[in-house]
Amino acid sequence: MPTFEIIVGSVLGATEYVADALQSSLNKASYESRIHLQPDLTELSRDAVWIICSSTHGAGDLPDNIQAFADQLQSAKLDAQPFLLFGLGDSSYDTFCEGGKSLYELMNKAGATALLPGFYIDVLEHPIPEEEAVRWFEEVFLSNQALQAV
Ligand SMILES: Cc1cc2nc3c(=O)[nH]c(=O)nc-3n(C[C@H](O)[C@H](O)[C@H](O)COP(=O)(O)O)c2cc1C
Repeated sequence: MPTFEIIVGSVLGATEYVADALQSSLNKASYESRIHLQPDLTELSRDAVWIICSSTHGAGDLPDNIQAFADQLQSAKLDAQPFLLFGLGDSSYDTFCEGGKSLYELMNKAGATALLPGFYIDVLEHPIPEEEAVRWFEEVFLSNQALQAV
């Protein structure tokens, strides 16, 4: 039974709500997980599935709290590390979800394996983004073969 590391990049707290809601879904399904609000590559279990959740700020930038993790990814070797990526953003910016997209790319470059394509939530369309995140997570991941493959 896999365990999960939930890695959070957030400025205003919306992505923390998403992480908490995903953890509740995992709890309900009897999976263990830990949330990392100051993620550090050296503290993450390589035996776990990583769930990366990040918003975008500035002009397509990452939140400060996940920047160090992104820097660590530049030189990381994460051979076949399974992960999922949730991006939060606002489609009125032409840099929609650039932060999440850059993390997805960095993970792939490091050799990690995305279990599903990145899931990007537009907060204009979904003002309560954790509801959309949980809907997708439960319908598409938890009940799906992507999870059986872990
Ligand atoms: C100053 C500011 C800059 C932002 N820049 C972007 C951006 O470049 N691209 C994007 O998709 N969303 C952008 N957003 C929208 C945020 O990503 C969105 O509000 C998100 O829900 C914030 O999540 P957080 O509370 O976890 O930080 C910006 C929001 C603010 C307040």
